[in-house]
Amino acid sequence: MSAPSPSAIAQSFSRGFSSYHGAATPQSAITCELVERLVAARGRAPADHVFEFGCGTGFLTDCLAENVPSARLTLNDLTDAAALTAARHGATFLRGDVRTIDWPGVPDLIVSASTIQWLADPATLLRRAVRALAPGGWLAVSGFGPAQFTELQTLGYALPVPGLACAKTLASWLGDLGLDPLISTEALWPMEFSSPHDVLRHLRRTGVNAGRSRPWTKRDLAAFSSDYQNQFSTPRGVTLSYHPVWLIARKPA
Ligand SMILES: C[S@@+](CC[C@H](N)C(=O)[O-])C[C@H]1O[C@@H](n2cnc3c(N)ncnc32)[C@H](O)[C@@H]1O
Repeated sequence: MSAPSPSAIAQSFSRGFSSYHGAATPQSAITCELVERLVAARGRAPADHVFEFGCGTGFLTDCLAENVPSARLTLNDLTDAAALTAARHGATFLRGDVRTIDWPGVPDLIVSASTIQWLADPATLLRRAVRALAPGGWLAVSGFGPAQFTELQTLGYALPVPGLACAKTLASWLGDLGLDPLISTEALWPMEFSSPHDVLRHLRRTGVNAGRSRPWTKRDLAAFSSDYQNQFSTPRGVTLSYHPVWLIARKPA
């Protein structure tokens, strides 16, 4: 499947914006772990200027604000709805594709959670982030690895996210800039859902169905359900596995 266009991604997240926060339990846990790791490496000292891209409903924004206060905060997202997150934090909001908008000033902390997987070339963006950072500044990013939703991939469903990369690959992209990440690590989280339909509902609510070119027919749904049930049943339902990846790096002072 080719990468969905920014407008398809924005549309999918706008549609699911109100349901995302309630449904995105793994994404919430991922942001907590990202902030925990950042704090373990950097401490809680206030930042001068934080830039976050792909802020969405603000899981990361909220968690970061509680742990690392900042004098100035700039948030970006493709969707207009994310302006609410910026308003809640008194932040500047930059709407648009993070690859093409002008970035603000010289941040000393750049963060992002669960967004780089939507980019066909996350390496270029991460290198731009390192270049944009103030000397001694920090980068804290999470994405997803190639085993993301392994159940769907096993059943032959192409994921709409072109930028899946394991921790080692993320680290190697920064290595090209001579930067050795302090943390690059990953996990496999098999989540349980009551049924394959429930899996689809979760995907829809968390915006992951962006890029599907045609709606599901009754026949598609029946085939999906029976294949899924046959291969990924547990005593309580079925699994859907997340493969989160975390990267923390510091630009030399
Ligand atoms: C899965 S959500 C994550 C939101 C939030 N960071 C979190 O952890 O809950 C991904 C967000 O990235 C945004 N996004 C995807 N591609 C983007 C791009 N090229 N530029 C800016 N934002 C993008 C989407 O609109 C969406 O709000």
